[in-house]
Amino acid sequence: MSEELARVERRGSVVVVTLARETRANALSRALIIELGRIGAELAASDTVRAVVLTGSGDKAFCAGADLKERQGMAPDAVREQLRLYQSELSWLRQLAVPTVAAINGIALGGGLELALLCDLRVAAEHAVLGLPETSLGIIPGAGGTQLLPRLIGEARAKELILRGSRVNAREALALGLVNRVTDPEHAVLEDTLEWLRPIAEGAPIAQRAALRAVRVALDMPLAEGLEFERALYDGCLESEDRNEALRAFAEKRPPRFVGR
Ligand code: COA
Repeated sequence: MSEELARVERRGSVVVVTLARETRANALSRALIIELGRIGAELAASDTVRAVVLTGSGDKAFCAGADLKERQGMAPDAVREQLRLYQSELSWLRQLAVPTVAAINGIALGGGLELALLCDLRVAAEHAVLGLPETSLGIIPGAGGTQLLPRLIGEARAKELILRGSRVNAREALALGLVNRVTDPEHAVLEDTLEWLRPIAEGAPIAQRAALRAVRVALDMPLAEGLEFERALYDGCLESEDRNEALRAFAEKRPPRFVGR
């Protein structure tokens, strides 16, 4: 029987993708990267999903990064190929029409933290430990870490984490802006994340998608261009049924019922 690599489960309008290599600290083997690419392609084709949560099985590791046992036997060309796979198979996490959220249930190191950085939002369990130790292994982050981390927490903090290879705990990560939220230890990070996502899962889908598109490009676009992009995206919401429903609901002092049209 072939190894189970990842599980996909529907929780209402949210899809949960769970890395399922618990005995390998959910490390990213070549097969797992390819499986995540396949799952991403399926999710991109769905128009009923409102958010995607990525988590790890067990409570020890979210993902310990590259599968170092597999890496040991790899020739440099195979490693180069793996780096290309990171881009081709994982970039859906920052491109999907709906928000992607990492529920960091434990250790997130190297490629494991980079996986979380590819997501739009991050929630960490209180016992989570995060870091990019690559330079201490004689390499550098190769799944977007050097580019995504400075955009998220600023250049100086990113240099500190990457060059010192230091690990931070969940509370430190929250203070850095590396995670959005820390789940208190009485609750499971996945359940807490699903509850926290409720305003997104129940919000107006057209507006959610438009806002996400606008914010995702904000740091990469000159301001004038970004403002123009925002205006064009606003226009796409203006004549939606959901926008009219929100105005009616406000006047009638009741919660809106969004239909995604
Ligand atoms: N690749 C492959 N297997 C890994 C792994 C990785 N990145 N990280 C952990 N594992 C495996 C271990 O080999 C062990 O399996 P084994 O008992 O068959 O040898 C199992 O997962 C549990 O790990 P272990 O080290 O016993 O648990 P721990 O709680 O003491 O430590 C980690 C967990 C993740 C902190 C530690 O394993 C570690 O530092 N891993 C390397 C992480 C890393 O540097 N990643 C960045 C790569 S660029």
